[in-house]
Amino acid sequence: MSYYGVLGLAKEPFSTSPDPEFFFRSSSHLQALTRLEIAIRLRRGLSLILGDVGTGKTTLARTLLANFPQEDRFTFHMVLDPSFESEFQFLLYLCRLFGLQASFKSTLDCREAIEHHLFHSGVVEAGTTVLMIDEGQKLSLDMLENLRVLLNYETNEFKLLQVVIFAQMELLGRIRRIKNFVDRVALKYIINPLSEEETAQMIRFRLRSAGLAGDAALFTPEAVRAVHRFTQGYPRQISLLCHNALESLVIHDRPVVDEPMVEELIRDESRWVYEPAA
Ligand SMILES: Nc1ncnc2c1ncn2[C@@H]1O[C@H](COP(=O)(O)OP(=O)(O)OP(=O)(O)O)[C@@H](O)[C@H]1O
Ligand SMILES: [Mg+2]
Repeated sequence: MSYYGVLGLAKEPFSTSPDPEFFFRSSSHLQALTRLEIAIRLRRGLSLILGDVGTGKTTLARTLLANFPQEDRFTFHMVLDPSFESEFQFLLYLCRLFGLQASFKSTLDCREAIEHHLFHSGVVEAGTTVLMIDEGQKLSLDMLENLRVLLNYETNEFKLLQVVIFAQMELLGRIRRIKNFVDRVALKYIINPLSEEETAQMIRFRLRSAGLAGDAALFTPEAVRAVHRFTQGYPRQISLLCHNALESLVIHDRPVVDEPMVEELIRDESRWVYEPAA
């Protein structure tokens, strides 16, 4: 039996994969999600979601997708890693993503085909095309410039392409170097880590989502406080630490994770913290 089965759970509660089912709507995540939905439905153009490493950007992207279930009018495309060697490669990739199969010889060919496609799907078919880009910190200045051009395609009322970029904070420096780019961002949002109360809620939520019975508790309040102190409310760190705590619960055959157990894990964990050479 798996370690979580021993604890009476149907699924792994603290997996580090970006599964929307385990996405806890903290105030910051909920706000990002709601505002993104509004920006997309109003076809406002470019949205930018920034956050430190492990704050939940990829999970947010997948949850957004899951929130537009059977709405035929919306077509979502996701770029998981926008490291392209040239503008042409990038535009060609977008053409293929949009289902355009012709043989394109130049960036101009690609742009024209994309514009035609966006006009057809947005105006003739009254649909909304959404391009989501994860790992947006990998977008080069050239790619950003190309996105800016695509965002210029518009009718009198709306933008023909909706772009949502999810990126670590370092993208901000690059964007500031492109004239007028920041002005074009319709929605800018920075995801904050969780408060202590939200950390407790996230842990509870993930345990319940994994099948823990309603009134059961696997962490004492002091243990949860220690988790928040160490992780500073960063969701990936919370998941990793809680996973280790549950494993040690099973290994030592204990009923509940308490503060000393978490402290011991933190001591082990601290030995692995990266320290650049002086
Ligand atoms: N709101 C949340 N509720 C529950 N778990 C979350 C939440 N946000 C993130 N997580 C968890 O944290 C981990 C990291 O999330 P995710 O991969 O989405 O972060 P990220 O911001 O994309 O990280 P990176 O900057 O490395 O790309 C995942 O295990 C995810 O399930
Ligand atoms: Mg990510």
